[in-house]
Parts: sequence; structure tokens; C-alpha cells
Amino acid sequence: MQHSIFIVLDGIDGSGTSTHSKLLAGFLSLKGLKIYLTQEPSNSDIGNLLRTYLKNDKIPASTDALLFAADRVLHFNNDIKNKLEEGYTVISDRYLESSIAYQSSQSEEISVEWVKTLNKFAGKPDLTIILDIDPKLSLTRKHHKVLDKFEDTSLLEKVRQVYLDRAKNEEYIVINTDDIIEIVQANIQEVVIEKLDQCGIQIKN
Ligand code: TYD
Repeated sequence: MQHSIFIVLDGIDGSGTSTHSKLLAGFLSLKGLKIYLTQEPSNSDIGNLLRTYLKNDKIPASTDALLFAADRVLHFNNDIKNKLEEGYTVISDRYLESSIAYQSSQSEEISVEWVKTLNKFAGKPDLTIILDIDPKLSLTRKHHKVLDKFEDTSLLEKVRQVYLDRAKNEEYIVINTDDIIEIVQANIQEVVIEKLDQCGIQIKN
């Protein structure tokens, strides 16, 4: 029997991964679980460098792919793994599927297989949920005026398609986020509760 699980919420920009990760963390804390909420890019030096590269469209896509993988392997091995061992349920706002979807959409030369190989040393989540929305809607949710380099409708159409194809192949649950926040969050909670139950992790009623 497992005592903690690693949950990931992933999806295109503006799909609500940050909002729903926070709401899920609050819900599971109230249900009596110890929660560790984290995100990618992580808070490491590599993660901080990546945040500056998100504003720079001169960075080769392969450099982005390599750095996101380096950040992830560090994040998993020095942070997530320890928290899981300490009995925390870990929620990550984005993980491997972001690299697969974004970096393979950035360049024809970047294959899904190569991105998977780069990320070979990053541990696997127990549950990945893909939040889905039409990019035309998702970008209107962004409040900041200066958009990151990936926040472009035509790129996000491609990214979305990779997420949906991957979800089909890997049997990830896809949740549409073009609905009121409480309904979307309730749908996410339902999937998570079912997974916790399968893993024999008890929560308060
Ligand atoms: P995001 O999570 O939307 O943060 P914020 O809300 O602060 O803008 O931004 C992260 C961006 O990084 C997003 O455009 C997706 C991209 N990204 C990748 O391209 N590859 C990755 O592996 C990860 C984790 C993120």
C-alpha cells in the first residue's frame, strides 16, 4: 500500500493549471493529507534561468528542451522524491507532459521520443490530469500584457493537439476547463479521490 502519491496538472497556457493546483492543494489539506505543492519551471537556478528564457525567442528549442529536462531531474531527485518519502502528497503544476507538448511543437527536429529520453531520470507521476481549453479562450485569461514566447494561438493549437494525442495514448484523464471554476475543480477532485482510493489512501469525509 502506498502512503503518498505524485499528482500532476498539465495543459496549455491559460488552461488553469496554477489555479486548480492551488485549489486542489487546499481541498486535500482539508481532507487531512500532508500536501507539497510545487511547479515547473522549479525554483532551482535552472528553473530561474528558464523563466528568463521564456521571454527570449532567440533560445534554440533544443536548449529549452535540455534545460527543462535538467530542471525536472533535479526537481524530482532533490525535492519531489524526498517529499513523497516523508509522506506528502505532491502536486506539481506542470511536469513532463509540458516538455513533450511544448518542446516538440517548437521545432520539427524535436521528437516526442527524444524529449522522453532526456527526461528518463525524472520519476513518473502516479496521476497526470490534462486541463484542456481552446487556445483562443485561454489567452484571453492572461492578464499580463507582455506574453511569454509560447503564448501564441497558432503554437498553442499545436501544443494542445500533442497534449490530446498523448492523453489518448497514455490514458490520461482530460478535463475541459471552459466552465465555471468550481465545476472544473469538482471534476478534478473526483478523479483525484478515485486515485487515492485505488492506492488505499484514506481521506476525511
Ligand atoms: P506558466 O506555467 O504558464 O507560468 P506563468 O503562469 O507564470 O506564465 O509558464 C510556464 C511556461 O513554460 C509555459 O508557457 C509552458 C512552458 N514550459 C515548457 O515549454 N516546457 C516545460 O517543460 C515546462 C515545465 C514549461
